[in-house]
Amino acid sequence: MNRINTELAKVLKRKIRSQGPLTFRDFMAVALYDEANGFYAQGPNIGSPDGPFNTNAKFPAFGYAIAQAIAQAEKNIGCPLRILELGGGTGQLGKSIISFLQTPHEYIVLETSPRLRAGQEQRSLQTIQNLNNLPPSPTFVFGNEVLDALPVHRVMGMGNEKIEEFYVDLDEDGEFSEQPGPLSTTELAERFKCEGVQLGRGQVAEICLELKPFFQNVRQVLERGYVFFVDYGDRASNLYSHRHRNGTLRSFYQQQQIHDPFFAVGQQDLTADVDYTAARSIAEEAGFEVDGPIPQGAWLRNLGIQAYKGSSSDRESDQKEINVLTRPTGLGSAFDVLILKTRGLPDGPGLQQVSNMSLSKSPLACQISPHFF
Ligand SMILES: C[S@@+](CC[C@H](N)C(=O)[O-])C[C@H]1O[C@@H](n2cnc3c(N)ncnc32)[C@H](O)[C@@H]1O
Repeated sequence: MNRINTELAKVLKRKIRSQGPLTFRDFMAVALYDEANGFYAQGPNIGSPDGPFNTNAKFPAFGYAIAQAIAQAEKNIGCPLRILELGGGTGQLGKSIISFLQTPHEYIVLETSPRLRAGQEQRSLQTIQNLNNLPPSPTFVFGNEVLDALPVHRVMGMGNEKIEEFYVDLDEDGEFSEQPGPLSTTELAERFKCEGVQLGRGQVAEICLELKPFFQNVRQVLERGYVFFVDYGDRASNLYSHRHRNGTLRSFYQQQQIHDPFFAVGQQDLTADVDYTAARSIAEEAGFEVDGPIPQGAWLRNLGIQAYKGSSSDRESDQKEINVLTRPTGLGSAFDVLILKTRGLPDGPGLQQVSNMSLSKSPLACQISPHFF
């Protein structure tokens, strides 16, 4: 399929012509978050039949389970909690969680995309665009598929433990092309050194450096509390193994997985697996105690998702929804939950009887594209 020369592609090509190649990370940040033409700036209709992809947010049973986690967290902490949702998408999940809470709560959505914020406000959700003015308070923080939407650097193994970074440049036809070059920051090599990762020659991998400022900002608004991230990812030793020789970057365009990050710049989603080894140690450095990641299915079952009753009183369809979210051969192990807490709190809700980093992914789950279900 021929690439689409979108408005944003034209803008980026002009930028590369005048200023030189961009790191893949900078390209991806613009492709997803440019305020005028980035993918998320268009206010994608995530979860609808004509939307670009689905998330857990589509299922009210998911919102029900999160509401149970909030109630449990309040019991553990002994006071009502402010709820902070990170990256609220269409606002569907926020609405669903609120509908299952027993009492009114302060519910705030942190959202970078102005269009998505407008949609969330239409659903009567309170939104903010950054955490700068949010005072520290006891809080329950939650993000579904936010870490896997953060921009990543792309690197390639050059042999002898050396890595180079990919830059987005233009070829002789004026088309986007990726070229390896020197690292734009030493943090990339340092990350692999800390994790003991050695890429094979020609092996491609993604590294997310946004985790550190993201976790630090969240820690600052949490006087006490828990943070839950639901994403797809793996520990570093798996993520950077030969199983992922071409990395885990994926792009989605109109409900199809496209194997070209330049196919329809600004109209396609770009996403990469979360490195949970890095996420754990960065969260600890930011002052959190960390549990998990644990498989989504086990977490939801521990929260009591089996008791979910939808509005239609159709037990069969409720059970179907629960199965989709929890099945170990599907979303139940395709997604994992990382749990952060401020020091000294009891274990996070949903953690019973699940061991840390219990990421033994079912071979079937590995074939599932988490965005389509
Ligand atoms: C893959 S979508 C998931 C949306 C929603 N949570 C769901 O499950 O349907 C990622 C969301 O994170 C938002 N986002 C990305 N980076 C963010 C950041 N740094 N702070 C807040 N939101 C962010 C995007 O605009 C989008 O709403």
